Amino acid sequence: MSRAAPDPKRNMGEPAPRVDGRLKVTGEALYASDFSVRNPAFAFLVTSSIAKGRIKEIDLADALGVPGVLDVLTYENTKLNEVKYSTGGGGAATSWQNLGPEIGHDGQIVAVVLADSFEAAREGAYRTKISYAAEKPSSTFGSPGVTQEDASKANERAKELPQAGDAEAAISSAEVTLDAEYGTPTQHHNPIELFTTTCVWNDDELTVYEPSQFVFGLKNGVAQKLSIPAEHVRVVSPFVGGAFGSKAQLSPRTSFIAYAAKKLNRPVKLVVTRDQGFTVQTYRAETQHRIRFGAHRNGKIVGFIHEGQEITSRPDPYTVAGVEDSARLYHYGAVKTHVTIVHADRNTPGFMRSPPVVPYIYALESAMDELAIKLEMDPVELRRVNDSMTDSMGKQWSSRSLMQCYDEAAKAFGWQQRDARPGSMRDGDWLIGWGCASAVYPTHVGAAAARVRLIADGHARVQIAAHEIGTGVRTVVAQMAAERLGIPVSAVTVETGDTELPPSPVAGGSNQTASCCSVVMKACDAIRAKLAPQQSTVGSNTGAQESLADSFKRLKLGAIEEYAEFLPPGAKPDAIKNLYAGKPYLGGGSHGEKLMYAMGAEFVEVRVHAQTREIRVPRIVGAFAAGRLMNTRTARSQYMGAMIWGISSALHEATEIDTRNARYVNDNLADYLVPVNADIQQLEVILVPEEDNFVNPAGVKGIGELGNVGTAAAVANAVYHATGIRVRQLPIRLEKLLTI
Ligand code: MOS
Repeated sequence: MSRAAPDPKRNMGEPAPRVDGRLKVTGEALYASDFSVRNPAFAFLVTSSIAKGRIKEIDLADALGVPGVLDVLTYENTKLNEVKYSTGGGGAATSWQNLGPEIGHDGQIVAVVLADSFEAAREGAYRTKISYAAEKPSSTFGSPGVTQEDASKANERAKELPQAGDAEAAISSAEVTLDAEYGTPTQHHNPIELFTTTCVWNDDELTVYEPSQFVFGLKNGVAQKLSIPAEHVRVVSPFVGGAFGSKAQLSPRTSFIAYAAKKLNRPVKLVVTRDQGFTVQTYRAETQHRIRFGAHRNGKIVGFIHEGQEITSRPDPYTVAGVEDSARLYHYGAVKTHVTIVHADRNTPGFMRSPPVVPYIYALESAMDELAIKLEMDPVELRRVNDSMTDSMGKQWSSRSLMQCYDEAAKAFGWQQRDARPGSMRDGDWLIGWGCASAVYPTHVGAAAARVRLIADGHARVQIAAHEIGTGVRTVVAQMAAERLGIPVSAVTVETGDTELPPSPVAGGSNQTASCCSVVMKACDAIRAKLAPQQSTVGSNTGAQESLADSFKRLKLGAIEEYAEFLPPGAKPDAIKNLYAGKPYLGGGSHGEKLMYAMGAEFVEVRVHAQTREIRVPRIVGAFAAGRLMNTRTARSQYMGAMIWGISSALHEATEIDTRNARYVNDNLADYLVPVNADIQQLEVILVPEEDNFVNPAGVKGIGELGNVGTAAAVANAVYHATGIRVRQLPIRLEKLLTI
């Protein structure tokens, strides 16, 4: 098949407005719980008030006496199959999948009250009396009773962590050394759209309306839990109101609602409350780090050791093992890495935007700043000295534009004017600090399928079960189809978020644009080949000899439809079959023939009030290189949101744990702090051009998660520059800057 080189000056890269923007702002876009179903019953969850122990007794008399209450599911009347836990991808988000009687964490689902109205269900939940035999829980690092496990033995993802040479020896004989510890707190995704599930049966056919980052995973998981054929389950999720990793895997709630709908022979609708969302779904686990460096006086690093510790639940070996990435960002000579999993009586954590790199690169980039200070070197220059086109293990980067990002961001920020002495840049009562840090995120691409239909009148329809989680996937897919078919974006309709459509992988790991665009490109090119086998391009804006209408006339066709499957390098031939079965294949990052990563540099100005220690971030500049950009408008929007989240991680966000009860304290949006408009002032995004045709046919590196990596370190580094105080435990709150 002939294929013209894509021309990035055409539709791709255009700052096209979102194709679904109008639907969203007018409220016409239907989110899962917006679908109206006939005569629904309403569900309300009852969650455990203890973190560890057993249910002793359940008394439903009061609950069943509430007018409108229809039934209450408990472990005594409901037992479903269990789906194997997996860390990310498909599979279940937790091993705690039934309604007891064992209790493994605070807020575990123990009963589901079903009623004619939401209010009656809620009242029934309050009147459900459960008594427990409680044991003392272990809540987090340092709590008595936690158990430790070597991540490389417990989880396939951490099996072979990067090692090179003798790092201990290299550090002990180095001219300059650093040994520092860092920590990051628990965080919760808190998507604005709550966790909802609506289930409808039509005889043996089940339809699940649920916001999802992986509809095929959900379909297959629910089928397995209920012992029904997967062909009998349809999942519908056309729009998702924020997810960030929290809606990627099968959650226990879904199958309870499906089971309830069958039992009542009536549709059932559940909207999980904000506070319950903290425990019935996943979260970002707290981490601890010890980083050791050895370096020459000229800044060349000769040894690097990164040891991480991560919290997880009792049964599940969840780990992000971000040493995979921290150990490659620079050339260190010798490398040693290790990750320890710490099991506590907690719900199982899960992926949250930039899962491995947010905590591990925060630690690395803080340590780099501390090393630069020890070396009396500019922190940008320290990165330059250790920049390399191969990592310490000898693998090459497919492309790497880290220093271009630094140079562009430094220039825009005015970094040259920085006086390196801490506390030296004062403006009245405000201590000014400037700091910087690197962003890095692995480039993933997955097996995917799509169907494209081009009609003789110049309209096209693209069908792919992609996930519109706010990233703009419909828009970039429309742009890709428009570009390859030579028609305007406005002539393309994109259908997503439904298991009736060809599957795409889990919308995680920032793979979606690369995977979806690669397969849609393939389907469009097949249509093009049928239309004009002699030409490589068709359509009006290519200057081709024959118009689209004439091509169809010559072929005596009204439309051409092509179904395509895309297999990235490394995918086995059965990858598409597995995808239909709910098991996605994702390749890339550090696991391919070359290292595939997107990179960036962020520069931050902070102002710390000399008396009150109030911390402000008046200015942030980020420069990012991530291969070809499908749409500069949606790309910029991803980076902005991510950098704001980074500021949030640095200064605001933390889920507080009552360690006596292993319970989350601030499980609401009033107490769980995130930035508001007044917290964010100047924010500049620089898109650094980069071409990488190795990563995938579309040349796209993912950007959904890159922008909030490194931000917290840049802020921490700036806070040190302003005050001379190094905060090594996030978030940085003013009480940590009090010196008296
Ligand atoms: Mo993202 S945390 O990989 O869904």
